[in-house]
Amino acid sequence: MDLSALEAAARAAMDPAGYDYYAGGAETETTLRENVTAWDRWRLRPQVLRDVSTVSTATTLLGTHVATPIGVAPAAYQQLAHPDGEVGMARGAAAAGALMTVSTLATVSLEDVAAAAPDAPRWFQLYVFVDRGYAGELVDRAVAAGYRALVLTVDTPVLGRRWRDERNGFALRDGMQMANVPLSMPDGDAAAGTGRGSGLAALFADHDRGLTFDDLAWLRERAGGVPIVVKGVVRADDARASLDAGASAVWVSNHGGRQLDRTVATAAALGEVADAVGDDAEVYVDGGVRRGLDVLTALALGARGVFVGRPALWGLATGGADSVRDVLTGLTDELEHAATLAGVADIRDVPRDLVTPA
Ligand code: FNR
Ligand code: LAC
Repeated sequence: MDLSALEAAARAAMDPAGYDYYAGGAETETTLRENVTAWDRWRLRPQVLRDVSTVSTATTLLGTHVATPIGVAPAAYQQLAHPDGEVGMARGAAAAGALMTVSTLATVSLEDVAAAAPDAPRWFQLYVFVDRGYAGELVDRAVAAGYRALVLTVDTPVLGRRWRDERNGFALRDGMQMANVPLSMPDGDAAAGTGRGSGLAALFADHDRGLTFDDLAWLRERAGGVPIVVKGVVRADDARASLDAGASAVWVSNHGGRQLDRTVATAAALGEVADAVGDDAEVYVDGGVRRGLDVLTALALGARGVFVGRPALWGLATGGADSVRDVLTGLTDELEHAATLAGVADIRDVPRDLVTPA
């Protein structure tokens, strides 16, 4: 499927500053670009004469059944894409049998997102701001609303320097709100063009940059039995430390190239992390996944689940829930096609040696 055409259509449909916020990355956007191209630096070693008369893309993510290993990564402010916002995303993901991760910074409350697709699998992504009180309340609310894992994002002690947003003075407008947290975004216009930041960067001045592995114990306790996923890991040592501190899974991510520019591409980091984790826990990945081939490569490198950020947002912006569904089923069809040609009948068993560096 042609995601660049979809992105062009989304761009035409969106407010320019909203589009830049979605599309952009940190500084010179080196990592943003390399996330996409790094998947193309792997080559496949297809197997032959395996029975591929049926190919299954179904799997489980932390025990939850899904029709596809492709899930929706957490992304803030989805009403920038479509008036339905996170409700549209949730309905689209549910229609594709895919898991959705809902951001702390959603424009629809986590309860309303849950009610929009009550039986669909969903995880909640947590940002911990300096006021721990409402981080704890968010955890309680997410657990009560049936979110099946808490995804702690750890690559944002401060916000990355996003030059596009700084130029645009990006901030929420038109009555959009952060529906989950008692926060409002400082006005971005004052900072526009001064190089001093955006409304979003100012908001993240209150993010808790003192977080350490020790805080996972607090989160685990607060979450009861609901598992914790640590998102934003690109190193084997951090993956091991996350598991030792009580995480149930790690999510290899550089935040879609939006945080520390020149961070290693996730397609280059995944293998190291997955090898260090082995069979001890599930590993997920996101960043630059745009084709079924990328997904098959990620599964071969050791990912159990593969998440998309921008592709789902472009779907939401162009056609709401239906287009989100079409993006997810389109990528899943591509995965099935690639798996068939690679002699893989079940995407839960993609062998590590299916890929080799180009
Ligand atoms: C994000 N991402 C993100 N991550 C997170 O943990 N919480 C959040 O609120 C957001 N917000 C957000 C907004 C937008 C507009 C984008 C594009 C991304 C990062 C996201 O979860 C994921 O790591 C990347 O988007 C993956 O890269 P691709 O698929 O967009 O290339
Ligand atoms: C972003 C934050 C909000 O990437 O996660 O924009």
